[in-house]
Amino acid sequence: MENQNTLTITDNRTGKTYTIPFTGGCIRTMDLRQIKKDEADFGVMGYDPAFMNTASCRSAITFIDGDKGILRYRGYPIEELAERCTFLEVAWLLINGELPTPEELKSWEGSIKHHTMLHETTKTFLEGFRYDAHPMAMLISTVAALSTVYKDAHDIFNKDVRRLQMTRLIAKVPTIAAYCYRHSLGYPYVYPDNDLSYTENFMNMLWKMVEPKYHANPVMARALDILFILHADHEQNCSANVMRSVGSSQADPYVSLAAAAAALSGPLHGGANEAVLKMLDEIGSKDKVPAYIERVKKGEVKLMGFGHRIYKNYDPRARIIKWTADRVFEITGRNPKLDIALELERIALEDEYFVKRKLYPNVDFYSGIIYQAMGFKPEMFTVLFAIPRTVGWLAQWEEMLLDPEQKIARPRQMYVGHDVRHAPEKTASAMLSATA
Ligand code: SDX
Repeated sequence: MENQNTLTITDNRTGKTYTIPFTGGCIRTMDLRQIKKDEADFGVMGYDPAFMNTASCRSAITFIDGDKGILRYRGYPIEELAERCTFLEVAWLLINGELPTPEELKSWEGSIKHHTMLHETTKTFLEGFRYDAHPMAMLISTVAALSTVYKDAHDIFNKDVRRLQMTRLIAKVPTIAAYCYRHSLGYPYVYPDNDLSYTENFMNMLWKMVEPKYHANPVMARALDILFILHADHEQNCSANVMRSVGSSQADPYVSLAAAAAALSGPLHGGANEAVLKMLDEIGSKDKVPAYIERVKKGEVKLMGFGHRIYKNYDPRARIIKWTADRVFEITGRNPKLDIALELERIALEDEYFVKRKLYPNVDFYSGIIYQAMGFKPEMFTVLFAIPRTVGWLAQWEEMLLDPEQKIARPRQMYVGHDVRHAPEKTASAMLSATA
């Protein structure tokens, strides 16, 4: 009996049969190239717009079961990490594959604190932005500009150099984010305070005014830490794919991460949390929800914060965010937008349009409501997504670099344009006068 772990394909154009081995439940698309009409034929390619059914890599970082609503980082369920770990512990786990020992955590926290400062020229760079520049565009540009500061960053196959850049980025992205926020308000920048935890220091750089020492509300700090954990990685999402693709050309991690953040800024991806708040503002009140749902069903608008390429069940992160929201509202007071969001969810989860399409709240549906209650403007929401996702992007980037099967990403295409054709001939003198 032939090896059962294979796929047998018959090409009806030639009658030939091919046996293709499975690799971890997939087939290698390159194995299709042997299927040819004739010797001159290039061979069969897979066609998969938006990579709906394409595994671009092997990865051990994050596991998602979209039908069951399961999310695990390095095998640990997201619910347990959110409840039992700090963000920096989870950052270490995503990058190193194991939770840190107490000694490793102490050293890791010290390394991060050591790198939170920005070069003073970077502050000057930030001053070049208009007062009303979108903070996400500022973040993307400033992260890319760090490439001009750390010229050793191109030495990406030297582990010590690579890990130094990764530490710098994890440490500095919150500082850049806070400086972008302060710039948009016209406030002076606040330097990092190494007495504080990662999240408390971020709050310090955001919100310290003239008091001698910033003291973060511990409930808010923990809520932000949990939100950071939930947003840290999500396997091969759009922006992780960009990080891997740009990184595959051996570009340095700063410009690669800037590209990933650019992908995240789109409203269909990380920009959805900002779009959700704008949608809730547009709806205005609970009684107007049914009318908005009808517009969604007519295809006039999308229900932002709903739906997911992988989750065809409730996004486990959305559930935890809802729990976290209640903790924050105990401090800040309930955000009235929550009532509109809950009514949207209630109606959508009962409506055939959404049920048939398996559309559930995703990570972005409730996060913006919390951020707004914390005092952030909607323009900052995606920046708050980019801070923790910096860890995921870097973990994916390093895994790609160290994967012996990976090389520069360069997809093929199905050409549907003109066949060869020729430009009208012109005399040399006509060309000289045309370009004069
Ligand atoms: C993130 O990939 C990740 O892991 C991303 C992320 C991460 O952590 O990195 O989880 C973060 O990006 C979350 C998603 C945030 N985006 C939004 O909330 C924007 C609204 N959602 C949609 O744009 C959409 O659901 C996507 C982009 C998230 C997923 O789109 P898909 O998988 O390409 O699905 P689709 O557009 O093909 O939709 C299938 C059907 C379509 O209807 P029909 O054409 O079959 O009639 O569902 C409909 C869509 O019109 N649909 C929606 C909808 N999402 C899908 N209809 C109304 N509102 C929506 N939000």
